[in-house]
Amino acid sequence: MKKRLIISLILVTIMSIALSGCSKQSTLSRVKKSGVIVMGTSADFPPFEFHKVVNGKDTIMGFDVDLANAIAKKLGVKLEIKDMDFTGLIPALQSGQIDMAIAGMNATPERKKNVDFSDEYYNSEQVLVVKNSSNINNLNDLKGKTVAVQLGTTSDDAAKKIKGIDIKELNRLGDAFLSLENGRVDAILMESTIADAYLKEYKDMKMLHIKEINEAVPGYSVAVAKGNQDLVNQINSVIKDLKDSGEYEKMLNKWMGK
Ligand code: ARG
Repeated sequence: MKKRLIISLILVTIMSIALSGCSKQSTLSRVKKSGVIVMGTSADFPPFEFHKVVNGKDTIMGFDVDLANAIAKKLGVKLEIKDMDFTGLIPALQSGQIDMAIAGMNATPERKKNVDFSDEYYNSEQVLVVKNSSNINNLNDLKGKTVAVQLGTTSDDAAKKIKGIDIKELNRLGDAFLSLENGRVDAILMESTIADAYLKEYKDMKMLHIKEINEAVPGYSVAVAKGNQDLVNQINSVIKDLKDSGEYEKMLNKWMGK
């Protein structure tokens, strides 16, 4: 009977999905088997990850990409990069769509509930970006204003603590700059190193350091799916080697000019 055949086919499919879910292969062994490590990132975050056309070809580059390449090299595999919205990174780790997220991501306690993090490799502070012509100079001036942030970031968290502002959450930081340019928002709350990079293009904007909005958060770390201590150890040894060899300093110089 046709119906039976269909039902048994469905059952077989369900069972094989369930079984594949059970096989607890670590990310590291999957990566080694496939010969590829997939990095997820949100490439709107210069100088850590951004798009640039090189020899007519769209390329994602930056500090985090150099770090990812060092990790791939250590593991003896190829690097593949997937560009997605920042909020998609942790779900993509959990579903195994990506092997590691490197996206200037702070290892916050909240995120630690869902993913594992490497040692920290960078720290940045929150700043406000406004038009040069703006009369916003301090936190008080922000009352009643609209502030753009990248959705799901520590800047988003910080903005939620500022009283009396409207928050415009955007998936891509580039859109925050277009919004500020067009006057749809009055300011962007973001991190200083990234603001520095954007301001090289947006000459009609400036950065304001506002002490009150900065609270101590853990630095940037590489995130992997939970339960992958073996991969975390490998990544930590790459970070340590980069620092010990002076390569880390060179990367800072190359990307931040520091
Ligand atoms: N450091 C911030 C955070 O962890 C923002 C990261 C945004 N990264 C990106 N590639 N757009 O929430």
